[in-house]
Amino acid sequence: MEHHHRGQWGSNLGFLLATVGAAVGLGNIWAFPNKMGGNGGFAFLVIYLILAATIGFVIMLSELAIGRRVGRSVLLSYQSVCGRWGTFIGWLAMLSPFLILSFYTVLGGYCLQYMVLNFSELIGVSRISHLSGAQSFHDMLTNQPLSLLFTLLFIAACYLIIRGGIKEGIERFNKVGMPALFLMLVVVIIRSVTLPGAGQGLRFMFTPNFTPLRENFVGVLSAAGGQMFFSLSLAMGITVTYGSYLSKKESLVKNAVLVIVSDTLVAVMAGIAVLPAAFALGGAGAELSGPKLLFITLQDVFNAMGSLGPLFGILFYLLVSLAAITSAIALVEVLVTFFLDRAAVRGHYGNRGKIVGLVCLAVMVESALVALDGLGSNGLWIPFQGTGLSLSATWLDFMDFISEGVAMPLGALIMSILVGWVIGPKLIQEEVCAQGHRFQGGLYAFFSFCIRFVAPAGMLMILIGQLVTFFTPAG
Ligand code: PHE
Repeated sequence: MEHHHRGQWGSNLGFLLATVGAAVGLGNIWAFPNKMGGNGGFAFLVIYLILAATIGFVIMLSELAIGRRVGRSVLLSYQSVCGRWGTFIGWLAMLSPFLILSFYTVLGGYCLQYMVLNFSELIGVSRISHLSGAQSFHDMLTNQPLSLLFTLLFIAACYLIIRGGIKEGIERFNKVGMPALFLMLVVVIIRSVTLPGAGQGLRFMFTPNFTPLRENFVGVLSAAGGQMFFSLSLAMGITVTYGSYLSKKESLVKNAVLVIVSDTLVAVMAGIAVLPAAFALGGAGAELSGPKLLFITLQDVFNAMGSLGPLFGILFYLLVSLAAITSAIALVEVLVTFFLDRAAVRGHYGNRGKIVGLVCLAVMVESALVALDGLGSNGLWIPFQGTGLSLSATWLDFMDFISEGVAMPLGALIMSILVGWVIGPKLIQEEVCAQGHRFQGGLYAFFSFCIRFVAPAGMLMILIGQLVTFFTPAG
């Protein structure tokens, strides 16, 4: 089946940068370093890598292969390969990106706001450095019009990029954005590790500590599994969609390995950039994860840096905005490709610009809820309010519960069972071997074993772990 009008990546590097861009996001910067430090340091990294190599690798490879084999949107691809169950996981893999966008865009908007605040400080217009990080953050969350405006700006940036198409839009942006992100990360690392007292942060992150492993091995395993799964953007339709635009010439195994290695590398680098500074200048009791790390602790760090602070502030929030935007465009593209391919199957030629505009508009509507809620600061009604469960703490938590908590792990669980037991790993092998690539012997045996046994068991464990988290009282 050829779909020439769909477009294709201009090069394997372009595909790779875009896929790494989709994987590298807020999760790498605000969750990984702290999870690593809190769950055994270097030992956690080893467990993370084992899970990534066994579960992450086989699910990513299957998604890439299914996408490229059918060459259509995630729904059509799963339907074509997996029949009726494919329809179910196809819809799940579109529901999740849509819901994740509701908060990803708001958080992206916050990053843009912080960039502007630091810029105003630099040119002497405003004085964020005169307020505590906690105060500035609270001021931003409760300023609803401004939050809406910056969310809109973030979505508008996504719109402008995706409108250009796969090669001229997404690939072109990532080809500049991802190397820039990497470079900025290196600059921030150099500043961070040369601060007096930085060693404490590095020790927190890297010291092997087997106590958490001994005391709560299952807890560490599910923390690492959940993080790996979210960080690699699995079960989101992203890898299927991006894979559907990849040439048969390219090696899927090599690409899957490179995406996983790069994503992990950036997560570890983000830790080296963030934690030493948070420990050196963030003050006692500084928050070390989530939005509070990003917008309170780190802004306190920039405030404490003196005259160079705002400059590093701009650089850092630009870096995080880039990480967020390259993920957000992947999420939007899943939906855009769905509408384009649906039109194509019906014999029309979909108008990309118009479809991107409509998807972005729909995203703006749901994002408005999350922006107005301001992480629960503005007294908005939230589903399951009053139950005290953590899924009802904020609109963000609620959207995250449906997507990351249920739809993603459930979709991946069913997908691994389908590939392992119903359609069989041979189909994936066939696609991986297109145009003479090798996928036989030990590597294929490893793949079959993991997709049949390790991935379903792991996904079930992650699904249960996520549900337990969301159903425990917020604290
Ligand atoms: N992988 C992204 C991160 O680590 C999160 C994400 C998940 C983005 C799913 C898009 C889709 O932040």
